[in-house]
Amino acid sequence: MGRIYNFSAGPAMLPEEVLKTAAGEMLDYHGCGMSVMEMSHRSKVYQGIIDEAEADLRKLIGIPDNYKVLFMQGGATLAFAMIPMNFMVKGKADYINTGVWTKKAIKDAKLYGEVNVVASGEENGFKKIPDMKGVKFDKDADYVYMCDNNTIYGSKWKEYPETGDIPLINDMSSCFLSEPIDVKKFGMIYAGAQKNVGPAGVTICIIREDLLARTPRNPLPAYLDYRLHAENGSMYNTPPTYGIYICGLVFKWLLANGGLAKRKEINEEKAKILYDYLDKSKLFIPYVDKSCRSLMNVTFRTPSEEMDAEFLEGAKKYKFTNLKGHRSTGGLRASIYNAMPIDGVKALVAYMKEFEEAHK
Ligand SMILES: Cc1ncc(COP(=O)(O)O)c(C=O)c1O
Repeated sequence: MGRIYNFSAGPAMLPEEVLKTAAGEMLDYHGCGMSVMEMSHRSKVYQGIIDEAEADLRKLIGIPDNYKVLFMQGGATLAFAMIPMNFMVKGKADYINTGVWTKKAIKDAKLYGEVNVVASGEENGFKKIPDMKGVKFDKDADYVYMCDNNTIYGSKWKEYPETGDIPLINDMSSCFLSEPIDVKKFGMIYAGAQKNVGPAGVTICIIREDLLARTPRNPLPAYLDYRLHAENGSMYNTPPTYGIYICGLVFKWLLANGGLAKRKEINEEKAKILYDYLDKSKLFIPYVDKSCRSLMNVTFRTPSEEMDAEFLEGAKKYKFTNLKGHRSTGGLRASIYNAMPIDGVKALVAYMKEFEEAHK
């Protein structure tokens, strides 16, 4: 079987060129006689790989010098706990609840201090990003926490909340590197790699130095202290070496293909094909409010669960996979991250039209 269109929410498709480069370098990386997987993380060659990955990421996003870049493990989920452990130094933080992932972050944060949920989309099934007009942040909050792109519902912030001097911390797991990022707006950005950037097992954290200068209220186990990772260039312990190498190849692919501004253009074009069709369709029902549609996760459903199941069954003949919605929302979801080619989206819409025609 050749490569298929994989609409998974993550782990997700990676650029074919990147996979081919990795395959070509698998047995013998640049004449070293070994795979990157087999290399000591303390070797000169590996140091070159991680340094280049960081330099390329800095160039790609335009990360200011007063931010550290960390390649960590533990997924976004470990960050849910590490953020309050490291940065809740006065003992309270404001959280904006936009779905399952922020709820998990809130639950963990409550173990370490006072959590104030200042806005929530829960009443409307997280179909909308909360209206922030009139929302006041606690001036004594250690930080404000948000999740940019809500993978499960397919909602995305279009304008970030204004938090003044309070650092804003953003879970960008499912939209990282899908468009330009204004890092200065944030105290910290983080993302699990397995959607837009690389294999599962790498979490990228971009953290402003003044946050790293904070002294946690309680002593932290070594791995859970961001400062140790920052002081040791992500090499306090063995980092996820192979995953970081693949992320580095993806950064090079993005740089060689027009950078993040171009990526946004392509992602907008791809998403528009799907949303335009959804808006015209008499059968498919989009899940999320128009005001906050994600470019990465497009959520919709048919009028019934049985028909959703039939749609998924029929998708098999075109070799489309992972179109099932998250178990908490049901319905259907097409995740169209950076590596999903435009032809994949066009092919999906052609199938949706065929399905609609057959159900008139
Ligand atoms: C927005 C968001 N945050 C956090 C997570 C949890 O990530 P992980 O499984 O890497 O811990 C996910 C996973 O899909 C996600 O989409």
